[in-house]
Amino acid sequence: MSLLKEPILKLSQSREMRSFVTNNTLGRSAARRFVAGETIVDAIKASQEANKLGLHVSLDNLGENTSSEAEANRATQEYLNLLDEIEQAKVDANVSVKLTALGQDIDRAQCLENIRQVLKRAEGYNHTFVRLDMEGANYTQSTLDIFRQLWEEGHRNTGVVLQSYLYRTADDVADMIKLGVRVRLCKGAYLEPPSVAFAEKAEVDKNYVACMESLMREGNYPGLATHDEKIISHAVEYAAQHKIGPERFEFQMLYGVRRDLQTKLVAQGYNVRAYVPYGSQWYPYLMRRMAERPANLFFIASQFFKG
Ligand code: FDA
Repeated sequence: MSLLKEPILKLSQSREMRSFVTNNTLGRSAARRFVAGETIVDAIKASQEANKLGLHVSLDNLGENTSSEAEANRATQEYLNLLDEIEQAKVDANVSVKLTALGQDIDRAQCLENIRQVLKRAEGYNHTFVRLDMEGANYTQSTLDIFRQLWEEGHRNTGVVLQSYLYRTADDVADMIKLGVRVRLCKGAYLEPPSVAFAEKAEVDKNYVACMESLMREGNYPGLATHDEKIISHAVEYAAQHKIGPERFEFQMLYGVRRDLQTKLVAQGYNVRAYVPYGSQWYPYLMRRMAERPANLFFIASQFFKG
């Protein structure tokens, strides 16, 4: 782990730092690189631009760990409006949702009802896909339980995210393959203790590759979410060796990260989806992007002082 990763991830939870960064010009200029804007109009515009480049999109309304019922309801309403606008503008976009934005910390029943409403609205629009993002390891079981309940109720326009840094993920991958669930596989972006997660990057990467191979062979249209060129090359070779056509999986990458690689893969005939976040609650998201690559901090500071 980079020396700066842990302190940056700790700061992502600090209220004082949040208030300082969000009220600061440098912070706001940093956010612009990774966040499409503050409104649904900005999100649709960024989706249209991505679509023009041949990219599919997943839109995320930023916000997590809401602490009141009213906030959770507002976040739910925002997703309903977002789905309406996706339909209206006919953009090629699905949505990604964090359950803690919809009340997972407050009341499970309310959270479940909120996500159900989102799924139902999406179902009405040609079964637009709704991805449940995965948050810190304290939420893994509860997120998978809520997902399972939705699945048992018959909702099929939804899927999960699994993180290769968790020891449990290989088992979760196997379970999701059995159910036929669409999985997004990522490495994992939160600060986790060694009791639940691999500490060494090499182990996280090795587990990613093993889980990815299972999902590519036996899974339902997995989303391979990574910017790691070695892993992406491995996926391409693995697909060729096992005669897995490019229609059976997609690559996924973040808005503001490696657009060159995104469009290169599109040109090679792969499905690529850009994860496009928008909204005013960008602070923890931005800090996770900084923790993944602390050099971003220096890059942003230099751009700021240049401009
Ligand atoms: P790795 O960190 O090894 O980076 C490989 C290379 O990618 C770096 O060398 C650098 O070039 C580039 N890179 C990576 N991150 C960068 C950044 N922030 N800025 C600039 N360059 C960067 N996590 C989670 O816990 N729950 C979730 O639901 C999701 N959802 C999700 C969706 C999508 C579409 C993506 C791409 C990622 C996520 N993540 C996530 C985040 C994920 O867990 C992980 O933290 C990041 O993708 C970084 O890991 P990489 O796989 O890119 O590899």
